Amino acid sequence: MIRAHEAGALHGQAGVRGPAWLHRPDDVNALVGRLWSQNVEKEHSMSVAGVPVDDLAAEYGTPVYIVDENDFRARAISFRDAFAGCDVFYAAKAFLCTATARWMAEDGLCLDVCTGGELATALRAGFPPARIEMHGNNKSVSELTRAVGAGVGRIIVDSFAEIERLDAIAAAHGARPHVLVRVTAGVEAHTHEYISTSHEDQKFGFSISDGSAMRAVQDILASTHLELAGLHSHIGSQIFVADGFEVAARRVLRLHARISQIHGVELPELNLGGGFGIAYTTQDDPASPYELAQSITQIVTDECASLRIEVPRLAVEPGRAIAGPSTCTLYEVGTVKDVVLDGGAARRYVSVDGGMSDNIRPALYSADYSCTLASRRSPAGPVLSRVVGKHCEAGDIVVKDEYLPDDVGPGDLIAVPGTGAYCRSMASTYNHVPRAAVVAVKNGSARLLLRRETEEDLLCLDVG
Ligand code: LLP
Repeated sequence: MIRAHEAGALHGQAGVRGPAWLHRPDDVNALVGRLWSQNVEKEHSMSVAGVPVDDLAAEYGTPVYIVDENDFRARAISFRDAFAGCDVFYAAKAFLCTATARWMAEDGLCLDVCTGGELATALRAGFPPARIEMHGNNKSVSELTRAVGAGVGRIIVDSFAEIERLDAIAAAHGARPHVLVRVTAGVEAHTHEYISTSHEDQKFGFSISDGSAMRAVQDILASTHLELAGLHSHIGSQIFVADGFEVAARRVLRLHARISQIHGVELPELNLGGGFGIAYTTQDDPASPYELAQSITQIVTDECASLRIEVPRLAVEPGRAIAGPSTCTLYEVGTVKDVVLDGGAARRYVSVDGGMSDNIRPALYSADYSCTLASRRSPAGPVLSRVVGKHCEAGDIVVKDEYLPDDVGPGDLIAVPGTGAYCRSMASTYNHVPRAAVVAVKNGSARLLLRRETEEDLLCLDVG
């Protein structure tokens, strides 16, 4: 099968048009406030938490991820407060470094890690192990041993082999870790296939429908070294509608009730995972943490009442909804090219100094982003543009469609909002491009969280 390349839809069309949701702005200099972190302002040029982007570019270079620290922490705190009485685990995979782990520790959240590397970072940051949970569909013996040795609060088991391994490791440590059983509830979340995780045909978890989940529960109950704390379900990511959570919660709670009937144990916890969507562009309209908490707790309370069971302690695992909106990526424009095709179709390509190495999401999930000219106000009118990276691939797209001022040119800074989740954490060194720095800004000052990688860093690994 041949797939049309990313530029496909416009080829041969007369004129210039973008997707239906993208409207030509009245003022191309204005920011769409809800796409940006709380402390972003744009007068002449853009600033984040009082620091002008030109200063950030001059000091740290570009591309650079700029984290609005107060915004990141405020989102974490609003999840914590909206879900009061529940446990909120920040999903570290969205973006983790020792600073963000410390923020989450100080702000009273728990932490979800899914590899030895994430666990090591959390422990280096001094994150209290009892508030850490460990995920992963193929945790190694060494990862499980480290988790048990460190005394992490919860281990979410994902396979029969893992239950056996964990049992042996717990026995050797004289420990009794609390475990949750990750189940697939058979829900098709309406999101990209690669980030949808609760339908049956995928690698995660035990199926409820074929009886594996119940067998996993039995194995754990039969173990004298493992303490069964509850069930876990995560239906996918970048989800906007509550009905997926509702169906999953119902199915999982029915299993929860059957376990108590058959085995006479009241499971104390229920973890419904993360996946709450954020606004990358004007087409997205996410719910607030408060609305999410209201609807999820209501669903669980109602279902428990109809099943006549105690309401378990609820946990959720937001990653993107905390980290994503807090951060923008700043790039410098290098070249601008207009393409005019036979049928009169036109497209403007604005090339910046990063791309798929600092944000793989457009190439991997066809994710849409937006952007603005950040270093100045422009008197020019809006032109539909495509912002592309510097990598050797035609699909190296940063922002597929956005209106930018007609006079954007080399040396201008472009800022892309909503890049705090799954951008630095999925960054690569493709084409031997060193990974970009991460800078936190707060109350008028900036500090480096992750320094920019150097060519020397890349060459350090090359021992041949
Ligand atoms: N809990 C579990 C068990 C997960 O697997 C995930 C994400 C989360 C919580 C957090 O999901 P969030 O609230 O951040 O959506 N790289 C993809 C996302 C993959 C998510 C994997 N698991 C992306 O860039 O969209």
